[in-house]
Order: sequence, then C-alpha cells, then structure tokens
Amino acid sequence: MVNTIYRRLGHSGLHLFPIGLGSMQFGWTADEATSVGIMDAYYQAGGNFIDTADVYTTWTPGNPGGVSEEIIGRWMKARGNRDDLVVATKVRGGMGGMGNSQGRKTVHQREGLSRRWIMKACEDSLRRLQTDYIDLYQVHYIDNQTPIEETLSALTDLVRRGHVRYIGCSNYSAWRLMQALWTSDRRNLEHFVSIQPEYSLLSPTRANFERELMPVCVEYGVGIVPWSPLGGGMLTGKYRRGEPLPESVRADENSRRRFSDQNFDVVETLGRVAEAHDAKTAQVALAWLLQQPAMTAPIIGANSVAQLQELLGVIDLKLTPDDLAEISKASDWERARTELET
Ligand SMILES: NC(=O)c1ccc[n+]([C@@H]2O[C@H](COP(=O)([O-])OP(=O)(O)OC[C@H]3O[C@@H](n4cnc5c(N)ncnc54)[C@H](OP(=O)(O)O)[C@@H]3O)[C@@H](O)[C@H]2O)c1
Repeated sequence: MVNTIYRRLGHSGLHLFPIGLGSMQFGWTADEATSVGIMDAYYQAGGNFIDTADVYTTWTPGNPGGVSEEIIGRWMKARGNRDDLVVATKVRGGMGGMGNSQGRKTVHQREGLSRRWIMKACEDSLRRLQTDYIDLYQVHYIDNQTPIEETLSALTDLVRRGHVRYIGCSNYSAWRLMQALWTSDRRNLEHFVSIQPEYSLLSPTRANFERELMPVCVEYGVGIVPWSPLGGGMLTGKYRRGEPLPESVRADENSRRRFSDQNFDVVETLGRVAEAHDAKTAQVALAWLLQQPAMTAPIIGANSVAQLQELLGVIDLKLTPDDLAEISKASDWERARTELET
C-alpha cells in the first residue's frame, strides 16, 4: 500500500516524509546519545528524510566539521537502515582541521563549488556517512568564483558515477535558480530538483521568497525544503512578549533580533489557532508551511525526543481556510515592511 503521507519532491521521483529532520544540532547542542535518540524516534514515526552538511559544526571550538555526518553514519550502520532513508547533505563551505597545509591551499582546494572541491567534498561526505551514495546532494550557497557550468557538470558526473542520486541547491535567489535550470537544459546536465531556503512566517526574506522564488519553484517543479521553519524556536511560542528569555539552548541575546510587535502578533495568533485545534503553536506554524505551494518538507531542528515528538504532531493537523486567512492577516509582510521603513 502506498502511504499517502509521503510527498513527492518537486518533479523528482523522491518521496519524503513531510517533516525533514535537520541535524545541525548533532554534536553541537545535542550530544551523540541524544542525537541517536532523536533519529530513532524520527525513524519509528515513519520519518525518512535526514538533512545534514559537511560543515556541521565547524563553528564550535576545535571542531573541524563533519561531526553531524559522522553521527548519522554510525547510526545508520548500527541500525542497518540506510536504504530506507533519503540522506541529504551539502557542499560549499570551508572545512577546518587542515592544520599547516591550510595556508598553502588555494580557495578551490578547501571550499567552494569548483569541480576540484566538489569531488573531494563528496568523497569525504560518503566516507563520514559510511554509505556508497548520497540521495540529495545540495550546494549550500552560491560561489561567485566558479561558473555554474563547472558546478553542474561536476555534480552531473557524481550522479552518473552513482555517488549521488539527485542534486539540489540552498540559499539561491530566484534568478540564480533560473540560471542553473537554464544551464542544465542547454548543456544536458542534471537539474536541481529542490531548493532549501530560509522560510517561515518570521523569515526576514519571506516577501522576496513569496514574490520571486516560490513562483519559479511552482512553475518548474522544484521541491521546497525550507530551513529554520520555526524561526530558530520562536514559532514554538516559548518566547513571550515582555518576559525574560526561557530555558533553552538557543535562547541567547541573538534570539531578541526577532522580537518585534509584528512577530509576537504572529506567534500569539498561532497560539489562538492552536488552541481551537487542541494543538501546539509549533504544529500550527509547520501546518501553515505545509499548506504553501510547492512545499515538500520543512526541515526542523530538535534538541530532544520530546521536542521532536511535539513537532511530529503536525502530521494530523489540517488548517481551515479561515485559519489560514487569520494567520495571513497577522503575518502580513507588507505591514512588516512598512513598520521597518517608518
Ligand atoms: N541550508 C542552510 O543554510 C541551513 C541553515 C540553517 C539550518 N539548516 C538546516 O535546517 C535545520 C533546522 O534549522 P533550525 O534548527 O534553525 O530550525 P528550527 O526548527 O526553526 O529551530 C529549531 C530550534 O527550535 C527549538 N525547538 C524545536 N522544537 C521545539 C519544541 N517542541 N519546543 C520548544 N523548542 C523547540 C530548539 O531550540 P532550543 O532547544 O535551543 O530552544 C531547536 O534547536 C538544521 O538542523 C539544518 O539541518 C540549513
């Protein structure tokens, strides 16, 4: 029996669980044992889509990167479930830990989207993930120093050699995505089947996404798998207007950059809609995303099994047209823009 929960990723043949499991937390704010518990709970709930990146988590002291991929690799090996999963990783960023040789390496030998770096980064990701293939290999963000033809041609070779099944991009603007799709057409190269943008009710680039990028994805069948769908945690409702920061790994002064009247209006509206459905604020935020055009699977982050399980409750939630209208009214980005400009 085909399970109707799974959603097709754009025009590709991949079918994903509607909530992707992000792994930026693994080895950073969640230790390995916690990460394993989160992956077990996700898999048992029917989850099949795990997103990582080679650079997770190079920003923590003494961490050369690759830690999240290694944790996922050990888990898949221990559980023997590699073939049940859609494993997505990314290439582009600079990896640490190169010691004295770092200074001698030119840019294309340690980061970017050149043929040279893509081939090396893919080999390294395959080794860390302990697998023969990556299901979705995504370019993490743009590289202005490398022609898109070179990037797409290297990615196409990886697909033809069987190391990669599908290719996608992340953090691309609409024109960059169009340029890539057009180049693939002209040169008979693999096409990006997905895009991973920052997108939520609170994302600063939301207006641009809805005006420019989303229509491209709808028109050309590019699946959308957004990152930070909970605004880094604010859309769970745990940050409250005028109250001190709650207990939370991510709750630092940086969280306050999202604290505007408009954003609190959005969160409070989600809270009211949630109450009417006997649901949670975070579930309504995810349900809203899942009901947007071309949306395949928001990629969430969780620091515990309890957090994950709360988020997975979205699977049974369907918002009504009235709910959607109420949320749209509270989150009107024209209002947000006007408030910012005056
Ligand atoms: N392509 C890119 O450039 C890019 C960039 C960033 C992220 N990503 C991917 O997207 C994934 C998700 O990003 P994100 O972590 O920023 O997303 P998010 O889902 O918006 O925020 C996740 C954070 O919300 C909090 N949270 C989650 N569930 C909760 C619950 N039930 N109750 C209370 N708090 C809860 C947790 O933080 P606390 O526990 O600390 O409060 C968690 O770390 C990453 O793991 C990564 O795979 C990609």
